[in-house]
Amino acid sequence: MLVGVLVSGSGTNLQALIDADLPIAVVLSDRPGVQALERAEPAGIATEVVDRSEYLPDRREAFTHAVVDALKAHGVDLVAMAGFMTILSKPMFDAFEHRIVNTHPSLLPAFRGAHAVEEAIEAGVKLTGCTVHVATEEVDAGPILAQEAVPVEAGDTVETLHARIKTVEHRLYPQVIRQLIEQLGANP
Ligand code: GRF
Repeated sequence: MLVGVLVSGSGTNLQALIDADLPIAVVLSDRPGVQALERAEPAGIATEVVDRSEYLPDRREAFTHAVVDALKAHGVDLVAMAGFMTILSKPMFDAFEHRIVNTHPSLLPAFRGAHAVEEAIEAGVKLTGCTVHVATEEVDAGPILAQEAVPVEAGDTVETLHARIKTVEHRLYPQVIRQLIEQLGANP
């Protein structure tokens, strides 16, 4: 079972997956120069960049095919999205059916999309959290695998709340992926 991790940013969740010794074959970014890519190198993990700026906004399907091809070239069985900020189209979900997972910084189905932490603060909720789910073509809507609640505290900013949520993600996401690898290994 080989994991491909999709990233776009700081890569703290990627780091948690690396630290958990998961079998990561490749880290793929949708843009060059991000911190997540720098985390792969000392861990001896291959990196790929499929630069979204060369494809979007008009060629999302071609972008998706390039991502699929790069992951397949590294023998990836299971895809973990870890802060990946480009929406992939159908060919990705056909190529890795039921084998793409994502971590999202809210208790889905609340606060889908790219501004989940900000929207939780604006809504005044007292509890938010994180959700690990199977990724499907509809963004942040696939079957939920695990969730954990995180309190919103008085005076929280997007940064302080997101940091509290990430602390939980860093524990939960590797746990869920490890279980999935065991299940898929037993029933390939
Ligand atoms: C995480 O909070 C994840 O839930 C969301 O993007 C963030 C990625 O953070 N999808 P990082 O790049 O792993 O630090």
